[in-house]
Amino acid sequence: MFTKADIKELTNKYIMNTYGRFDLALVKGDGTILFDENGKSYIDFASGIAVNNLGYNNKAINSAIIEQLSKLIHVSNYFYTEPQALLAEKLCMNSFADKVFFCNSGAESVEGAIKLARIFANKFSKRGYKIITMQNSFHGRTFGALSATGQEKYHNGFEPLLDGFTYVKFNDLTEIEALVKNPEYCAVIVEPVQGEGGVNIADRDYLKKLRELTFKNNILLIFDEVQVGLGRTGKLFAYMNFDVEPDIMTLAKPLAGGLPIGAVLAKDEVARAFEPGNHASTFGGGPLVLSAANAFFDEITKGGFLDDVLKKGDYIGIKLNDLKNKFPKLIKEIRTIGLISAVEFYDLKAKDIAAKLIEKGFLTTAVQDRVLRLTPPLIIKKDEIDSLIGNAAEVLNNSVTK
Ligand SMILES: Cc1ncc(COP(=O)(O)O)c(C=O)c1O
Repeated sequence: MFTKADIKELTNKYIMNTYGRFDLALVKGDGTILFDENGKSYIDFASGIAVNNLGYNNKAINSAIIEQLSKLIHVSNYFYTEPQALLAEKLCMNSFADKVFFCNSGAESVEGAIKLARIFANKFSKRGYKIITMQNSFHGRTFGALSATGQEKYHNGFEPLLDGFTYVKFNDLTEIEALVKNPEYCAVIVEPVQGEGGVNIADRDYLKKLRELTFKNNILLIFDEVQVGLGRTGKLFAYMNFDVEPDIMTLAKPLAGGLPIGAVLAKDEVARAFEPGNHASTFGGGPLVLSAANAFFDEITKGGFLDDVLKKGDYIGIKLNDLKNKFPKLIKEIRTIGLISAVEFYDLKAKDIAAKLIEKGFLTTAVQDRVLRLTPPLIIKKDEIDSLIGNAAEVLNNSVTK
């Protein structure tokens, strides 16, 4: 068996240097717990990056994969397959959408949404190709998704980006009101909750008015729910918290229980713009991944599952606000909806706090410089939340006394 030092050496020698990694090699997971190569356990408040919504070694997902494995792993989209048809029906029956396109990642789903918006404008709404997007947003690393991303730090060095994206302030309609009237624009893309941007939650009123404005001006509304869709906010889809339906929605991360997947959902009147040959994916919607996705979807839509997420979301919100009250000079703000939360510090570096929490046996993620994000598996237990809060208090206490 390779030691962590061996793994680190090989990784640093042969893997391109695109990730800052914590000093931890993980080998196994079960439920909400991950284990390193020495058998030390960690309670997971990260879920990959908001992927493992059902935790690790989930029986329903494992059985679905094992059963499908011996039947059919891959076949092209020139043929029909049952897992794809079944998941598409489930997604449509449980959302605003009538049609789905399957791909392999979040970025790809955003690419698909951009292409759909553009071809819809070309064929039907007769508007231009430009898209309004939000400052501080994150939509992925491929060129279309990167161009839609409203954070300069991700653009630097890769210019020129794709033409036609205008970045406006999130949660603020001032600039949008004029832009939507401009016939050069065909769509607005927004995360109802900005995940990578620091867990910034849209106001209900803002999204409602944005919907009215986009309807009125015949411009499409795209919700990127790659990070916050599929139970993360305590509702099946994040838009359900705001009573606002988009025209197009992107999904990915947790949808196939940890296997790579992406999906673009749309209403019929929009989806009809795609015809054979317009868009495609070799692997998208493959039977192995989609059988896992069917199992994942069935689990999170079981009676009571999402109610429980909501309850635990309320609980973590109370606990985090107690923590803020204990450390008012360190913690600037708590933002939380369902089981995605942010602890924003005044001065502390979120990465340093995440590293100290790893030493104590907890995995979290740092987004932005001073924001610690919690995205535990949705099966997290209350005593595990208590344990995190207790240990975070110790870490913060040490930061004060140092
Ligand atoms: C809202 C959102 N969209 C798109 C992406 C890109 O997803 P992927 O890394 O699967 O390409 C992410 C990833 O964090 C995301 O949070």
